Amino acid sequence: MANSNVKPATGKLGIMVVGLGAVSTTFMTGVLMVRKGLGKPVGSMTQYDKIRVGRGADKKYLHYKDIVPLADLNDIVFGAWDVYPVNAYESACNAQVLQPKDIEPVKDELVNIKPLKAAFDKNYAKRLDGNNVKDCKDRWDMAQQIREDIRNFKKENGVDRVVVLWAASTEIYVAPDMKYHGTLAALEAAMKANDTVHIAPSMCYAYAALQEDAPFIMGAPNTTVDIPAMWELAEEKKLPIAGKDFKTGQTLVKSGFAPIIGTRCLGLNGWFSTNILGNRDGLVLDEPANFHTKEVSKLSTLESILVADKQPDLYSNYYHKVRINYYPPRNDNKEGWDNIDIFGWLGYPMQIKINFLCRDSILAAPLCLDLTLLMDLAHRAGRYGIQRFLSFFLKAPMHDYTKDEVPVNHLFQQYVMLKNALREMGGYEADEEID
Ligand SMILES: NC(=O)c1ccc[n+]([C@@H]2O[C@H](COP(=O)([O-])OP(=O)(O)OC[C@H]3O[C@@H](n4cnc5c(N)ncnc54)[C@H](O)[C@@H]3O)[C@@H](O)[C@H]2O)c1
Repeated sequence: MANSNVKPATGKLGIMVVGLGAVSTTFMTGVLMVRKGLGKPVGSMTQYDKIRVGRGADKKYLHYKDIVPLADLNDIVFGAWDVYPVNAYESACNAQVLQPKDIEPVKDELVNIKPLKAAFDKNYAKRLDGNNVKDCKDRWDMAQQIREDIRNFKKENGVDRVVVLWAASTEIYVAPDMKYHGTLAALEAAMKANDTVHIAPSMCYAYAALQEDAPFIMGAPNTTVDIPAMWELAEEKKLPIAGKDFKTGQTLVKSGFAPIIGTRCLGLNGWFSTNILGNRDGLVLDEPANFHTKEVSKLSTLESILVADKQPDLYSNYYHKVRINYYPPRNDNKEGWDNIDIFGWLGYPMQIKINFLCRDSILAAPLCLDLTLLMDLAHRAGRYGIQRFLSFFLKAPMHDYTKDEVPVNHLFQQYVMLKNALREMGGYEADEEID
């Protein structure tokens, strides 16, 4: 770490999570268990991955923490907001993701993570009916109350830095509209005018975080920080933002598998993806307006990997469909099916079937850890605005669509971006050498 010019990770890091449901409690419980030496953070890049730095005779393979100053797990303090008043222990038990043997040893810490009142609007998630909700005059007041929560949390817990992570339910789809989302001034005017159609509660959380010097991560597919007004605020405040939508199960497979087809110049006729899941996330996504937000995010993956303009013979007419079906018996244990219709030499058709029996929150928890630690790092490294190097972890990577920027969805290109950002922050040269 000799050459890194990133500020050191001194003091405590506050991770304030919006939503205290299955993903958040699996994340928090896991971190607390790992801290006690009672579990392993499997799937976490920041805890396991080693990347090469230097070239030729000087090359070494190092863990991220030996390249850049990452916050230590022992320095993390958790906070949360939720619509339901139950603490992290009760919520973890209700979620039924982890077994009691993996929750009970950290019960005392979890009981103390009590959700602050949520900034919530039932029109954005009709299936939720909790009462732990802020009473807000308008959207501007909503943001001011969240700002106060962040300031109080910092004071009460003696934390030096805060990162805010959205792991709450997917809101209904808010299409970016430049009249309200195009500039910071327009966004603030809409908040003050209490424009509840264009200003989602999640935007109030993001706005508040950025005003309080906290990087913001959008783990759901919500529009929230994916609008020019928020980019402007992030640039002005010199804060990193990242999103959208954790890349966990089916889309992870898709962004890793599609390159096989593309790299071998095979053709694609269609890709049908369907899922069954039965947790509260599935319940919220059963509402068509909420599902639409997810659909937009999930559909974006293939089009930038298998591109019609680049290979018209191979990718001009493929049919891409994504479905999520709410099916309570499976709870968090989502099952995903992919049917891929490809074609080869002289156009002869073939099929590939993928059946992924995953666990949604088990896949999402390490991403929560990696995204929060890397956003804290980016902030200390003086990086701000959209953090494209975190696309590796996200289904619909943020990009400047007003300038026709094409997002990178190819998993292995995203990994190169991640490695190079770490090399640069560690004071090494970015490169694309083969390891
Ligand atoms: N698990 C995965 O693999 C995965 C992948 C990508 C994205 N996600 C997203 O992560 C999010 C969380 O998933 P989950 O399984 O934990 O869902 P969950 O339903 O168990 O938890 C979400 C919690 O957010 C709370 N909430 C909703 N709106 C809120 C608001 N405005 N303020 C505060 N709290 C609010 C709900 O009350 C609920 O307790 C979802 O949006 C989901 O789509 C999950």
